[in-house]
Amino acid sequence: MPVIPASACAKTILLGEHAVVYDEPAIALPVSNLRVSATIQPGIGLEPGTVIIKVPGLSLDTDLKSLPPQHPIAISIQATLDSLGIHEHPTFRLRLTNNFPLGAGLGGSAAIAVTIARGLSAFLGHPLGQAEVNAVAFRSEQSAHGNPSGIDNTVISLEKPIYFRRTHKEEIVKAGRMFSFLIANTGISKHTQDVVGDLAQKRIEDSEIQKIMHEIGQVSKEGRGAFTSGNLGKLGVLMNENQSLLEKLEVSSNELRNLIEAACSAGALGAKLTGGGRGGCILALIDEVKREAIEYALSAAGAKQIFAFEIGPQSAR
Ligand code: PMV
Repeated sequence: MPVIPASACAKTILLGEHAVVYDEPAIALPVSNLRVSATIQPGIGLEPGTVIIKVPGLSLDTDLKSLPPQHPIAISIQATLDSLGIHEHPTFRLRLTNNFPLGAGLGGSAAIAVTIARGLSAFLGHPLGQAEVNAVAFRSEQSAHGNPSGIDNTVISLEKPIYFRRTHKEEIVKAGRMFSFLIANTGISKHTQDVVGDLAQKRIEDSEIQKIMHEIGQVSKEGRGAFTSGNLGKLGVLMNENQSLLEKLEVSSNELRNLIEAACSAGALGAKLTGGGRGGCILALIDEVKREAIEYALSAAGAKQIFAFEIGPQSAR
């Protein structure tokens, strides 16, 4: 059997994180230059049913039997086998690498799950389609996040910009022009599950929280129009509005605010945290001519890593 390569992209949430958990709409973008990659090789010389897993990015070097059954990687493997109707564990070596930080709000856990579903099903000779890959990754996300909206696994398995509502089928949205973005990492890793859990509790105690969630949903709705019509200025304003609402939800942090402030002062059209918050990354919408100045300002403000990506009309193809 040959060595099977597979990969999946990272994602950013343009508008609507957290509110999307409560069935408000959100817009998510794939980041195709940032990827998790896998190689799967036959487990020659291993005892039948043994699976060796190496993920340097998670400091993981183990065999499947030693992982807790609820570990997202164990779930991704099991869900892929279930999807294929395979009851006996195949013998293989899985190695996963990533060129973007995991646990930083860029959809690392969903990208790992999508990569495993794609790679393992291809290795077994029955490559799963997008919907099945998405379902595998959702199962894994449930174990990683507790109550995921499903936006991460959906945008990553499609690798296209989407307008997403939890109870509706996702819609692929076509950018009305080329949009340039910068992602800057605070270097503080965070646990989306904890932030989502805190908000769930607050929402029970304080009726204001649900109102804010709804306002975020309205921003996403407006944002869809700005995105598809290519209205750069309006999209930036909406990202800033979204950030103010995320501040009210108390999911931001000093480090995130510093990076947002630095990006905006250096000329970004809008900036906000992206993903679960309280650490992780910010997303800034920029004009290419200001890119160097904004990157410089972000570095000076303490960004640990900066990534650039673009989304244009062809990203929806
Ligand atoms: O932090 P990430 O990349 O897992 O993004 C989570 C997005 C949330 O809206 C906060 C949670 C969800 O499941 O939609």
